[in-house]
Amino acid sequence: MQCFVSPMQPSDIDEIIALCRRVYPSSPPWTAAQLLSHLEIFAEGQQVARTAEGALAGMSASLIVRWDAYDALGTWRDFTSGGTFRNHDPSSGRTLYGAEIMVDPTVQGSGVGSALYRARRELAETLGLLRIRAGARLAGYGAVHEQLTPWDYVLDVVSDRRRDPTLSFQLSRGFHVFDVVHGYLEHDPASRGWAALIQWVNPAVATQSDYGVADPRLVPFMARSPACLSGEGLPSGADGTG
Ligand SMILES: CC(C)(COP(=O)(O)OP(=O)(O)OC[C@H]1O[C@@H](n2cnc3c(N)ncnc32)[C@H](O)[C@@H]1OP(=O)(O)O)[C@@H](O)C(=O)NCCC(=O)NCCS
Repeated sequence: MQCFVSPMQPSDIDEIIALCRRVYPSSPPWTAAQLLSHLEIFAEGQQVARTAEGALAGMSASLIVRWDAYDALGTWRDFTSGGTFRNHDPSSGRTLYGAEIMVDPTVQGSGVGSALYRARRELAETLGLLRIRAGARLAGYGAVHEQLTPWDYVLDVVSDRRRDPTLSFQLSRGFHVFDVVHGYLEHDPASRGWAALIQWVNPAVATQSDYGVADPRLVPFMARSPACLSGEGLPSGADGTG
């Protein structure tokens, strides 16, 4: 399906709130005040996708954070300042934080999410940021939580033994998992609050240590630095700064 990604405008707000209700029926939707705040604070980071007929098909919302200023296992509320983006920090942050991406359920699987992810990556590249990070809600975990620990679930997904509606999509977009956290979203029965922390590292600005990994179980599934790919061994070091 053809879709067009463009900067969000104030006139999109009512449709975004309606979209949010369709995508997350059990969660409070974004408020108009939050969405306006995002536009005032970081207009470039807010994007919408529309069909050729002009219908709102999806949206994404991002801000820049200095990652080291947060507890790495913090919640979505921490990284978005309660959804306002008042913590947006373009002067010292090097991480584009993906706070939201959602696609209308009637057009999921038609390439809209991929188009929004491409636009987000282009933004990170244009701004010369080190990486994109986000929490990937484990949308399929709730259904199997009695059989598997969240870690085993994630290891199944990263090794392609299982498909998660959200995380598998993000892995196919070049992201990798660097940790698994609980309590990430408050109103999300599908994930039972579990999320994988994911990142895409910008090869144009990254150094080898920026490809580090938090947990040894994930090492085989991490993106490798260019030096690693040429056979110089696994990257060392923890998360890069910024
Ligand atoms: C996760 C989400 C954003 C993905 O968006 P989407 O528009 O469905 O994604 P796409 O259509 O671009 O890609 C989905 C898959 O469909 C495939 N696809 C792309 N175009 C397609 C088409 N024309 N026909 C069929 N499949 C297609 C893609 O190849 C992709 O498969 P892959 O992941 O194996 O590569 C969307 O499902 C969503 O909004 N989910 C609910 C909200 C959510 O969980 N957001 C994430 C918060 S962390």
